[in-house]
Amino acid sequence: MKIISGIQPSGKLHIGNYLGAIKNWIKLQNDSENECAFFVADYHSITEEFDPKEKPKEILDLATSLLALGLDPEKSIIFQQSQVPGHADLAWIFDTLVKIPELERMTQFKDKAAAQKENINMGLFGYPVLMAADILIHKADAVPVGEDQTQHLELTRDIARRFNNNFGPTFPEPKSLLTETPRIMSLVDPSKKMSKSGGEKSYIALFDSPEIIKEKIKSAVSDTGGGKDKRIGGDNLLAIFDAFAETKEEKNEYSNYKREHADGKLKYSEFKPRLAELIANHFADFRNRYAELSENPDQVKKILDSGAKKASAIAEKTLREAKQKIGLII
Ligand code: AMP
Ligand code: TRP
Repeated sequence: MKIISGIQPSGKLHIGNYLGAIKNWIKLQNDSENECAFFVADYHSITEEFDPKEKPKEILDLATSLLALGLDPEKSIIFQQSQVPGHADLAWIFDTLVKIPELERMTQFKDKAAAQKENINMGLFGYPVLMAADILIHKADAVPVGEDQTQHLELTRDIARRFNNNFGPTFPEPKSLLTETPRIMSLVDPSKKMSKSGGEKSYIALFDSPEIIKEKIKSAVSDTGGGKDKRIGGDNLLAIFDAFAETKEEKNEYSNYKREHADGKLKYSEFKPRLAELIANHFADFRNRYAELSENPDQVKKILDSGAKKASAIAEKTLREAKQKIGLII
């Protein structure tokens, strides 16, 4: 399968990103049947407020983190979106196939527009079209993402179908690949998804120290509140435990906690510190590898440069084919 996915360099990676997407990237790359490409979606990230002085650091940090988590340039093409000409060109072509009301319906656009009322820019509006171009320029079959991106994948398939109908078979219709935890919820408001915008205490960043993780899990909302949503906080914490449980013993522990929770007997004073420990242990190697890699930013830049060369060759070919199909090549 041809696989592609991207992530925006806009702050800290959290366990939602990891459990919803990146964990799957590593699994997919390690299957030799797959051809994988993963990228830092820097063009997407400038549709929100940002500091041009911080941006280079955010891009490098994200690339370093992805390598520290196990992305391997020997197995995957790893690149920075804006270093590859073609994505924005193909997005322009796709713009002519998409109707304004379709983009107005996008949930992420509505949420972000509400959050940045003073800056509802064209880039934010066209964000899903650029995403479709990212995917289709690689003719990808499958896209590992969290659940919040599935609507964008539907639009990507619509765009591919429309292009193919109008101009002849060119693009596959890619599907989204979800993990078992496609939507990790916020620790402070479990009715919302975990995200950077929910505040420090709402998410666990991959860089958080074991002490901070312990604190954040300790204060996480569990089974308080009223109504039928009463248990969603506890369910979320259990799902996180399950996702990080690797050994047979840890899986057994999970089954016990789950049963206790179902019976209303879960002791959070025992469960929470154990969950915090499990998460902190999981990222111990990551923290060490990140520290090593960040000693040598030139090596990371080299990997991105070489990834951009490989991705550019693919992008150029597809863009040319698309232009040829629509009659722009004389
Ligand atoms: P973003 O940080 O929005 O660029 O997201 C990067 C990837 O992480 C995308 O595939 C998202 O769908 C995924 N993701 C973000 N937040 C969550 C979450 N709370 N649960 C699961 N996946 C998520
Ligand atoms: N929109 C994605 C997100 O916020 C990031 C992204 C950009 C992406 N282009 C992509 C993901 C192409 C998958 C494929 O998470």
